[in-house]
Amino acid sequence: MFSAPGRVNLIGEHTDYNDGYVLPMAIDRETVVAVVARADRRVRVFSLNLNEATEFDLDNPGAPQRGIWLDYVEGVAHILEERGLQLRGADLMLSSDVPAGAGLSSSAALEVATGLALASISDVEIDRISLALACQRAEHDYVGVKCGIMDQFIAALGREGHALLIDCRSLEATPVPFDTSRLAIAICDTRVKHELSSSEYNTRRAECECGVLILKESLPGIRALRDVSIADFERYRDRLPETIRRRCRHVVTENDRTLTASEALRSRNVEEIGRLMNRSHASLRDDYEVSCVELDRMVEIAGNLDGVVGARMTGGGFGGCTVNLVRREALEEFKRVVSSEYAKSTGIDPAIYVSEAGDGAKEVNMKDERGSVN
Ligand code: GLA
Repeated sequence: MFSAPGRVNLIGEHTDYNDGYVLPMAIDRETVVAVVARADRRVRVFSLNLNEATEFDLDNPGAPQRGIWLDYVEGVAHILEERGLQLRGADLMLSSDVPAGAGLSSSAALEVATGLALASISDVEIDRISLALACQRAEHDYVGVKCGIMDQFIAALGREGHALLIDCRSLEATPVPFDTSRLAIAICDTRVKHELSSSEYNTRRAECECGVLILKESLPGIRALRDVSIADFERYRDRLPETIRRRCRHVVTENDRTLTASEALRSRNVEEIGRLMNRSHASLRDDYEVSCVELDRMVEIAGNLDGVVGARMTGGGFGGCTVNLVRREALEEFKRVVSSEYAKSTGIDPAIYVSEAGDGAKEVNMKDERGSVN
């Protein structure tokens, strides 16, 4: 059995596909894949969550982007094969407690756990970064979302008790300790998912690329928005059309906030992290326009409570979750008030998960009831 976790991103949103910085952590919810090898090249898959069985043939790839959950599993298998890994057929059983469609990267958890299971059972070596990259490629080609590397990277390489500051250009990750004894990570699920999320996601990405093309005329050395400083942006911002300008402003300032927040986390400057998270949310709402009424309301409720250090939307947006840093002594009150106020405003009962920062993908030792690393 192999597992890979969901994730929550503390800060650094929509920066990964701009070669920028992100600061996610793996959460203590995961997808588990049980696997046995087969003698042929078929892969049979059973999802316990959906109570659904399906299968595919490694030698006859199905069409990509069918809009079904098998796209993730089959996509990863085919990308691994395309990258030269000879896989064996297998029977897979999937089970997950990462809420699907809630912006906690249930898809990356599924991809990474599947990739690790198939590679391990086929006795092929793949390092964790290559595994994450293969899963990202599967998402681009087989699912059709041009995602960045954050979700697959943290699912593959998360570290217990730490957030990872990931440089999405060099793919270097610096673990930053996160002490949850005084400060809890509370994840509030709005329980809404607006349909436009994947098409709007690809549009945002294209808008950023357009911004780079225009800024390049003044800043020939840049390759991505990661290379644009706040000062350079201020100098040349008037050359950008209004919408593109706001998109670029979000990315340029968010990269800066993420680097500052990782320093603040390291030096345990909690107030500073909170301020940066709050600003990140405003920028995602006003400049990047990937929030929604429900996320804004959830953040607003949290922001009015004592003991909440910072609150913002997390992940791609248009629904899904907020991430909140809450002082331990205020946690029960936080859960109570957020649930009732959010339900009062929206008519929806939210879900609230309190998580530790967990490890990335691993083999699950079946002899150990607690399911720790082999
Ligand atoms: C989704 C994508 C990530 C990242 C976030 C936004 O989760 O999969 O690559 O772009 O949105 O930060």
